[in-house]
Amino acid sequence: MLVARDVEYRTCVAVLKRILFAMAEILIVYHSQTGNTKKLASTIASGVEETENAHAIFKHASDAAAQDIKDCDAIVICSPEYFGYMAGAVKDLFDRTYEELKDDAAVYKKPYCVVISAGNDGSFALAHIERICKGYRFKKVQHPIICKGPITQEILAKCFNLGMTLAEGVNAGIFVRAR
Ligand SMILES: Cc1cc2nc3c(=O)[nH]c(=O)nc-3n(C[C@H](O)[C@H](O)[C@H](O)COP(=O)(O)O)c2cc1C
Repeated sequence: MLVARDVEYRTCVAVLKRILFAMAEILIVYHSQTGNTKKLASTIASGVEETENAHAIFKHASDAAAQDIKDCDAIVICSPEYFGYMAGAVKDLFDRTYEELKDDAAVYKKPYCVVISAGNDGSFALAHIERICKGYRFKKVQHPIICKGPITQEILAKCFNLGMTLAEGVNAGIFVRAR
């Protein structure tokens, strides 16, 4: 059962981690068949790594586990849109971790955002991911990025900035739950 005390404890741990280890950990999970989503995800990771006192944990969705989601300070979910849905590997990550995490204070209001690579749409994959994230009670802290069609320099710049913004935000404590 999630209580305010648990959330306060988690906030304290996060702040202490910042003070003692001074390292924001941003988990970036992705799936990619032809490399587009991986390119977006790795650019986000570069933005995180460019930030002082921040570290990107870059994982294929199949290699990520509940503990990764618990341990990170923020999570970026990167998926292609396939047949109007998220990639199977991303859905599988949710399937494998939901029961364990849904009532866990360690993920309550965990900052997250979504990045989608799509041929011409992306809105369905995004909507499904965000709906599931509500179930985890994650907190959306940045607007999603949807890349439609070929990846442009503008999209890559947005991804890089997203990584930096998340890392800076975690370090500054601005994503901490408002009471
Ligand atoms: C099996 C399959 C299904 C797809 N379905 C959609 C779709 O429903 N909507 C869309 O906008 N693009 C769709 N696409 C295009 C991909 O989303 C797009 O090429 C994306 O950049 C692929 O990312 P990846 O290189 O990381 O696999 C589909 C591609 C494949 C291979």
